Amino acid sequence: MGLLPCANVTILFQALLIIFFSCFCLPACTAIDTITLAQPIKDPNAIISNSEAFKLGFFRPANTNNRYVGIWYNKISVMTVVWVANRDKPLNDSSGTVAISKDGNLVVLDGREKIIWSSDVSNSVSNSSAQLLDTGDLVLRDNSNGSIIWDSFQHPSDSFLKRMRISNNANTGERIRLTSWKSPSDPSIGSFSAGLTDINLPEFFIWNGSLPYWRSGPWNGQKFIGIPGMDSIYARGLNLIDDREGIVSISFNPENESTYYILNSEGTLGRRYWIDGIEDWGIRFPAPRTECDVYGKCGPFGSCNPQDSPICTCLRGFEPKDIEEWNNRNFTSGCLRRTPLRCERNSNSSEVGKEDGFLKLKMMKLPDFAELSTAMEDECKSQCSKNCSCIAYAYYMGIGCMLWTESLIDVQKLSMDGVDLYIRMAYTELDKKKNMNLIISVTVIIGSLTAAICTYYLKRWIVKRRGCSNESMLWDNVDQVKLEELPLYKFEKLAIATDNFHLENKLGQGGFGPVYRVMLVHQ
Ligand SMILES: *[C@@H]1O[C@H](CO)[C@@H](O)[C@H](O)[C@H]1NC(C)=O
Ligand SMILES: *[C@@H]1O[C@H](CO)[C@@H](O)[C@H](O)[C@H]1NC(C)=O
Ligand SMILES: *[C@@H]1O[C@H](CO)[C@@H](O)[C@H](O)[C@H]1NC(C)=O
Ligand SMILES: *[C@@H]1O[C@H](CO)[C@@H](O)[C@H](O)[C@H]1NC(C)=O
Ligand SMILES: *[C@@H]1O[C@H](CO)[C@@H](O)[C@H](O)[C@H]1NC(C)=O
Ligand SMILES: *[C@@H]1O[C@H](CO)[C@@H](O)[C@H](O)[C@H]1NC(C)=O
Ligand SMILES: *[C@@H]1O[C@H](CO)[C@@H](O)[C@H](O)[C@H]1NC(C)=O
Ligand SMILES: *[C@@H]1O[C@H](CO)[C@@H](O)[C@H](O)[C@H]1NC(C)=O
Repeated sequence: MGLLPCANVTILFQALLIIFFSCFCLPACTAIDTITLAQPIKDPNAIISNSEAFKLGFFRPANTNNRYVGIWYNKISVMTVVWVANRDKPLNDSSGTVAISKDGNLVVLDGREKIIWSSDVSNSVSNSSAQLLDTGDLVLRDNSNGSIIWDSFQHPSDSFLKRMRISNNANTGERIRLTSWKSPSDPSIGSFSAGLTDINLPEFFIWNGSLPYWRSGPWNGQKFIGIPGMDSIYARGLNLIDDREGIVSISFNPENESTYYILNSEGTLGRRYWIDGIEDWGIRFPAPRTECDVYGKCGPFGSCNPQDSPICTCLRGFEPKDIEEWNNRNFTSGCLRRTPLRCERNSNSSEVGKEDGFLKLKMMKLPDFAELSTAMEDECKSQCSKNCSCIAYAYYMGIGCMLWTESLIDVQKLSMDGVDLYIRMAYTELDKKKNMNLIISVTVIIGSLTAAICTYYLKRWIVKRRGCSNESMLWDNVDQVKLEELPLYKFEKLAIATDNFHLENKLGQGGFGPVYRVMLVHQ
């Protein structure tokens, strides 16, 4: 055996290299994306999706020694966990395993082979495997026919990823919602959840426990109308589908890859997007954004405006239910109607006043519990006014005619976008502004008249007594208020206008005598 030729050395070296990598590197270097019965993964190993976008493995949140099985973005430099398996049952060491159990379920086992988490599919499957897809979805398949028997997108944690779907099925009670972490170092189920409602018009909600914490307003086909500034860019990728038979779902399909929604442990839902230059996540449109966004901040019939101080006011025609509480900035009790509606008075059949009307409030976040009517835009008002239990209406293109009964809650004055809301109001309340103007003008007229007459007589009196021409200079100036310039009405005309000074037209009694409300047409 002499010296090997150069080429042969190279070939031998390459062969050795291949053997070396096969022996020591294969499990870690080859990106496998599937867990099978024969191929479980043991901490600290992981599986990586085909295009390497997502990774499933074991992780430890900051400030804790607990370990969890989760899915995170693989190509992003900041560890960003989007799904956790054993949220409520952490591993306390690095002896965990993710495996397929004999009944076909995906399970997490601790160091003593005890199941601490399971996909909990009840129908046993003899041969199944779990694959991490490039979407970040972990799917468990029945290998006999390839059907998906469980997947992580149907059981989300706090993240709403691209191509995911959040849904609500009123018929089966099945719902897919986000649930917050308890804290940034504890993925166990926190108090906040987010998803769609199925009552009346579908909306997106955040709940704190079982209480609503924030709502988006209804969907108009393109966006949620209760989120000011939710333009097409923000809404892009979101699509709500309502089959009007109890199933509503919202999907998210943005153009950009690295963007998703997260419901954080403080209850804020926001859209995160990766900023390459900064190497960190940015957040857009967090909700709730202002104090006013917190559900029902100002109570029933209250309206919130973040630019006001205090932020809460009663809707026009309403007054605080408990003025002391209200002044102490506790707005939860809300407001009450000041003047009963004619509808209500009628039911007591005492007096019959003028027809109720509607007060228009511009650019509002519409109240919760809207009922959709089939009425067209021009019939919406009459639809509401002919039914005594209807207390407000609004019409919005893409949604239709919305009616409210009972209460108006979670109303906000928006500085952009928003909808015109029409509130049913007693005639006298509706007319109060007009009345005020009349009272002022009638008072001014009578006041000026009296002043002019007094001046006239005073002047005559002075001239008569002193005969002083110097002083009359002063009075000449006063004389500029000429009687002719004031509107004078014939007594008959006023008598007709006030229905012979009928009590119904009397507004009150002032220092100059009774004040009547009149409508006069100038000729
Ligand atoms: C981890 O938890 C198990 C019980 O699940 C316990 O027996 C074990 O001592 C714990 N190990 C450590 C290091 O705390
Ligand atoms: C399970 O299914 C896979 C894929 O169809 C197949 O390769 C494998 O041999 C099956 N295993 C068993 C134990 O049947
Ligand atoms: C796949 O097979 C299982 C039984 O092995 C059956 O229950 C299921 O309906 C099948 N799915 C499809 C899509 O055929
Ligand atoms: C959520 O509800 C809990 C319990 O009712 C309460 O203590 C907490 O302040 C609420 N959180 C927010 C942000 O409102
Ligand atoms: C997509 O990403 C680019 C670059 O990060 C950004 O400028 C753009 O606004 C994003 N588009 C959307 C719809 O978020
Ligand atoms: C606000 O008023 C409600 C209703 O009276 C009461 O239950 C609640 O304790 C009050 N909240 C505060 C912070 O005082
Ligand atoms: C109607 O009558 C009832 C009982 O007489 C009374 O309690 C209620 O306040 C009345 N409603 C209105 C709007 O006046
Ligand atoms: C009035 O509206 C209520 C609530 O929407 C409804 O239950 C009731 O049937 C309506 N009444 C009439 C006469 O349409």
